[in-house]
Order: sequence, then structure tokens, then C-alpha cells
Amino acid sequence: MTKKRVRTIGVLTSGGDAPGMNAAIRAVTRTALGKGIKVRGIRQGYQGLLEEEIIDLSARDVSDTIQRGGTILQTARCDQMKTEAGQQKAAAICKKYGIDGLVVIGGDGSFRGAEKLANLGVNTIGVPGTIDLDIACTDYTIGFDTAVNTAMEAIDKVRDTSTSHQRCSIIEVMGRDAGFIALWCGIANGAERILMPEEHDYDEKKIIEDIQASKERGKKNYIIINAEGVGDSLNMAKRIEEATGMETRATILGHMQRGGSPTCKDRVYASIMGSMAVDLLAEGKSNRVIGYKHGEYTDFDINEALKMTKEIPPHHIEVAQELAL
Ligand code: ADP
Ligand code: F6P
Repeated sequence: MTKKRVRTIGVLTSGGDAPGMNAAIRAVTRTALGKGIKVRGIRQGYQGLLEEEIIDLSARDVSDTIQRGGTILQTARCDQMKTEAGQQKAAAICKKYGIDGLVVIGGDGSFRGAEKLANLGVNTIGVPGTIDLDIACTDYTIGFDTAVNTAMEAIDKVRDTSTSHQRCSIIEVMGRDAGFIALWCGIANGAERILMPEEHDYDEKKIIEDIQASKERGKKNYIIINAEGVGDSLNMAKRIEEATGMETRATILGHMQRGGSPTCKDRVYASIMGSMAVDLLAEGKSNRVIGYKHGEYTDFDINEALKMTKEIPPHHIEVAQELAL
């Protein structure tokens, strides 16, 4: 049986925004237009789909966007999409607007929504977009590279003042459920300690003993990178100062890590993934998610991708510990 040709592709961004999402939207738009496929941008993720916030996108609408942070389509979290009624309504709206292919740029939650729409007859492709790097089927997610570079530069600055004052600095980075940003910054910034949600039972007593020992070894400061999922940085700073006598300050980097102009890597990878998503739709594929695995761009069945698991590589933790002498 010959597959029906895709005539109109919708594109949306969902969940937390990530630098590089605009590069993906631009790539989806221009790849589709190049193939003679019409493009509709859906504002504010699934929320906007349910509220019919749907606009036509031309090649010029995505001009001058590749270097911009955030998402020109905006994003949202939408509980209604988690209900069967919401999913039926979303699929019906796609049909009403002639959207026979949909590119969903977001994280695992967004892919669950995409999977539901695929089951309701809307061809969907997921593109991994999250600063947290916590999508199991891929070694790369849009926004991680920019976020870790932003955090790394901020931490360098905190380190300068920390050294001048011979302080302990606790710097909290994003990652509610995943410690990848903390791990990468911990290595890149030469931190003494990295606290990640994956290893929630960190031993504060050991940290205190280590700070005391490192003072005796002549260390001028002590940097702790703490992931949001572990949290409690302000109280932790008070406890550490009290126990060690070393002045301790906490800095919470927060949402600055989600913004800013995307790095070259985020622009290029997002462009390739956005373009691949359209290629898959044009081939009649659905319920797939794009990934970058073992040095190659690839795609997976969404159901399979959502079953995969991803761990913080133990070797990376060992290296971070070895280098924090
Ligand atoms: P991310 O996509 O970054 O993981 P969320 O987990 O917040 O972010 O999910 C984004 C949105 O995806 C949710 O607000 C909701 O609209 C949709 N979503 C999440 N889980 C499901 C689900 N099980 N079924 C349908 N839609 C879902
Ligand atoms: O996008 C991922 C993330 O930045 C997490 O690291 C963080 O826990 C969460 O989003 C914060 O989301 P919100 O935008 O709701 O504050």
C-alpha cells in the first residue's frame, strides 16, 4: 500500500525551554518548505494546540532566530494533554488544521504526548530538547551544551571571589532529577565535590572532614557543585560554616542556565535533528524519536526510547573525584 504523502507539518516546543530549540524550529520549517510541505507553528506546546494557537510559518518567519535563546513558539506544561479527552481533542485539532505530521521538540514527558497522538493517527516525531541531558536514547539533547557552558562561566566567576576570600562555595545548578549538569560542571570547574540527585545520600560529615583536611593541605577554597534535585544549598552553607569555621556562601544559578544564545554545537545538532525529523515524516514514518548515539544521528521507536534508562557514567564520577586532590 502506498503511504499518503505528508502535506502539512506542525511543530511545537514543550516542557522546559532550551537554547537551540529555535535552530530546530528553523530546520523543521525550511526542510519541510524545501520539500513542498506546508508548515504550521503551534504556540505554547500542547496547551496552545488545545487552544488552537496555530500559525503558518514561512521561511522568513524563522529568519534571524538561530542565534536566539528561548523558543519563538514559546512553551508550556499542559495537564489536560495527559488525559484521554485532551489527547482526543488534540488529535482532532491536528486533523482540523490538516496537520498530518507533527514534530515535538521537548523531553520524555513531551514524547509521551507525541506517542498518544501517534496512536490516534497523527504521525509524530520527537526531537530531544532539554538542558538536563536526561533522555535515555540519546547522548545529546538540545540545550545541554549551552547550559553547561553558561554554568561553567558563572562558576569560574564565583571561584575567583571564593579564592580571594578563602571560602567554601556551594553552587547550585539545574537538574531536578538528573545530575549531568552538576557532573560536567564539577569536572570542568575542578570542583572538590559534586552532589547529584542520583546519589542523594551524600555524606555531609565526610564533606566537613574533607574541608578541614584540605585547609590543612593549603587549599585556598573549596567548591561544591550541588544539583537542584539535592537542593538545600543555603542551609547546607550554614551547617558547613558552623562545623568547619570556613566562611561558606551558597549561589543558586537558577534559570539563567536555560537562557542565552545557543553554542555552535547546539545550533548545529538541533539543525540536523530538526531536518531529520522532517525527512522521517516525509518517508511516512511516525512514533519515532531522533537521537545521537555512539557518534551517529539515529532514530528510535518512541515506546522503546521511553523504556530505556540512562545512568551517570561511574567512570566520570571517579575521574572527578581523582582530580579533586
Ligand atoms: P519534558 O517534555 O521536558 O519531559 P514535562 O514532563 O513537563 O517536560 O512534559 C511536558 C508536557 O508533555 C506536559 O505538560 C504534558 O502536556 C505532556 N505530557 C507529559 N506526560 C504525558 C503523558 N503521560 N501523556 C500525555 N502527555 C504528557
Ligand atoms: O528543563 C529542565 C529544568 O530546567 C530542570 O533542570 C529544572 O528542574 C526544571 O526544568 C525547572 O522548571 P521550571 O521552568 O518549572 O522552573
